[in-house]
Amino acid sequence: MTIRVGSNEEKEFILSKYPYTAQVMRSGGSLVVAAKGESILGFSWSFRREIPAAVGKTEEYINVIEVFDAEQRCRGIGSLIVKKCIETARENQCYQVRAYCDINNLPSHMLWVKNGFTVSPVKMENGQIVGSYVAYKL
Ligand SMILES: CC(C)(COP(=O)(O)OP(=O)(O)OC[C@H]1O[C@@H](n2cnc3c(N)ncnc32)[C@H](O)[C@@H]1OP(=O)(O)O)[C@@H](O)C(=O)NCCC(=O)NCCS
Repeated sequence: MTIRVGSNEEKEFILSKYPYTAQVMRSGGSLVVAAKGESILGFSWSFRREIPAAVGKTEEYINVIEVFDAEQRCRGIGSLIVKKCIETARENQCYQVRAYCDINNLPSHMLWVKNGFTVSPVKMENGQIVGSYVAYKL
């Protein structure tokens, strides 16, 4: 298996096979794929941006990360993709890597914790905790 930057063709393939990914795979982002031979086992889509606070630094924001086949999960593929995103962000002199996960998504929370991300739960005015921002300082 290799973890590498995905091509435009692979982006189109993911969009065609998993149409819901179109909501998060905008233009101007980066695709990382976990590939085994011709098959794509998983991917992440992230983009580099100014941190939306006046600190004058950039971040890599991971919009989506997914290992498609449930049977392939919990084998470290997600972590390899996260590590590749961290490596790319470091090469691009980013300050941090960040993502968001829904509060009920325990596998996603555990993925970030396993990879050394902080977990900042988001509390709404009504007291409900809806999700967590996760961040890795480079
Ligand atoms: C989140 C996701 C990408 C993780 O990929 P993965 O290949 O399973 O990740 P890893 O194997 O590297 O690490 C996952 C860790 O979470 C743990 N984990 C997973 N489900 C868990 C659960 N229900 N309870 C406790 N720990 C759990 C695994 O045991 C593993 O930790 P370990 O290696 O210390 O045992 C994958 O679960 C997935 O594709 N989920 C559906 C899409 C999704 O929700 N994406 C995130 C939001 S965009």
